[in-house]
Amino acid sequence: MADLSIEFCGIKSINPFWLASAPPTDKAYNVVRAFEAGWGGVVWKTLGEDPAAVNVSSRYSAHYGKNREVLGFNNIELITDRSLEINLTEITQVKKDWPDRAIIVSLMLPCEEKLWADILPLVEATGADGIELNFGCPHGMPERGMGAAVGQVPEYVEMVTRWCKTHSKLPVIVKLTPNITDVRAPARAAKAGGADAVSLINTINSITHLDLDQMVAFPIVGGASTHGGYCGSAVKPIALNMVAEIARDPQTRGLPISGIGGIGNWRDAAEFMALGSGCVQVCTAAMLHGFRIVEEMKDGLSRWMDEKGYKSISEFVGKAVPNTTDWKYLDMNYQVIAQINQDDCIKCGRCYVACEDTSHQSIAQLIDAASGVRTYEVIKEECVGCNLCEITCPVQGCITMVPQNTGKPYMNWTQDPRNPRAENIKVTETV
Ligand SMILES: Cc1cc2nc3c(=O)[nH]c(=O)nc-3n(C[C@H](O)[C@H](O)[C@H](O)COP(=O)(O)O)c2cc1C
Ligand code: SF4
Ligand code: SF4
Repeated sequence: MADLSIEFCGIKSINPFWLASAPPTDKAYNVVRAFEAGWGGVVWKTLGEDPAAVNVSSRYSAHYGKNREVLGFNNIELITDRSLEINLTEITQVKKDWPDRAIIVSLMLPCEEKLWADILPLVEATGADGIELNFGCPHGMPERGMGAAVGQVPEYVEMVTRWCKTHSKLPVIVKLTPNITDVRAPARAAKAGGADAVSLINTINSITHLDLDQMVAFPIVGGASTHGGYCGSAVKPIALNMVAEIARDPQTRGLPISGIGGIGNWRDAAEFMALGSGCVQVCTAAMLHGFRIVEEMKDGLSRWMDEKGYKSISEFVGKAVPNTTDWKYLDMNYQVIAQINQDDCIKCGRCYVACEDTSHQSIAQLIDAASGVRTYEVIKEECVGCNLCEITCPVQGCITMVPQNTGKPYMNWTQDPRNPRAENIKVTETV
């Protein structure tokens, strides 16, 4: 049976599944029930200076799929709206009662060293395992010079991280904002400031949809609205890329990463881990489906690890990183071609329309003159292997992309004679 326990930047946890800093972790009542359900750790809802933040009503909105499935979730909530003392007292008690679970305290304060120096000993006294610096909240707090307003300026990230390393012995996890052009910049700054790890992503600036009668976006607060933070399943691809960018950056390689963003099942978690996350954090999926989703996560990951022969999490963390590269290093001689399994095909014609209208006119629609029955066949010579037909086909597995034996060796764009600026040609010229 696979061992799910981890040690993440010195923090021990019975499994890699943590609840992210958010409403599910904002009080002892929730956190205790999360631990009872099996979560390995929590990042407590962000604490700040007193008086506590005040929230508006309403606060959430969603981007729905056709069947009212929540694809993306948007919120305009601030950090904890309870006093520092209540939070610290509850954290102390929960940590005492659950010594085998990781409790990380998320913090957000203005950029004044004294404020950090004052709060850090109080947090340390709770017995918490680490701190997470919330440099990512995209709404409300940046207007007050906190959250994403710090995370978007690498110099501030480095400065505050250094203060925390100076005034606390606890491991420091820096939570990054995705609302930035190149996430590697704040990650490098966090490392330079002495961060023990980074976590990402926080939420993405968003407006989900509008009430066109009232002419106002959701969530509506007395006839007005504001942009919120986007999260949930829809942000997973963005988060995965950002995690990979940091994992493969030579300047931050080896820096522990806690992956966050759209994780809802064991497979999502395994993907984040394969791209370099030593543990994962979950918010929206737990908000929508409850704490018990961790059962599927633990069970599924454990079964998959057994199947693959992985005995511990560390054996596959980062395993997909070497296979994630720049476009220019992809093999120009690699070729796949679509293949339709006629037995599975329901003759809907979607692949034909997609290829005909937007791709390479590589699917033939053949109509039997007598019966009028249509069949669809790939014209191999024309197919560029773009995947569009496979993506649009409603029958899973009906279209497969089959690698071709071109007989040609690996050749990337820097070596390709069709590249007028081929880097190796340039080198030859200058030598
Ligand atoms: C309602 C709500 C409140 C949140 N509050 C915080 C917070 O106080 N501190 C923080 O660092 N992140 C906060 N987040 C962001 C989450 O911790 C997480 O980074 C983000 O939701 C992406 O993960 P997900 O896709 O699993 O939800 C909040 C998210 C939501 C939806
Ligand atoms: S892979 Fe692309 S080019 Fe080939 S048949 Fe499908 S849609 Fe057309
Ligand atoms: S989209 Fe799939 S099911 Fe529909 S015609 Fe094409 S191969 Fe057949």
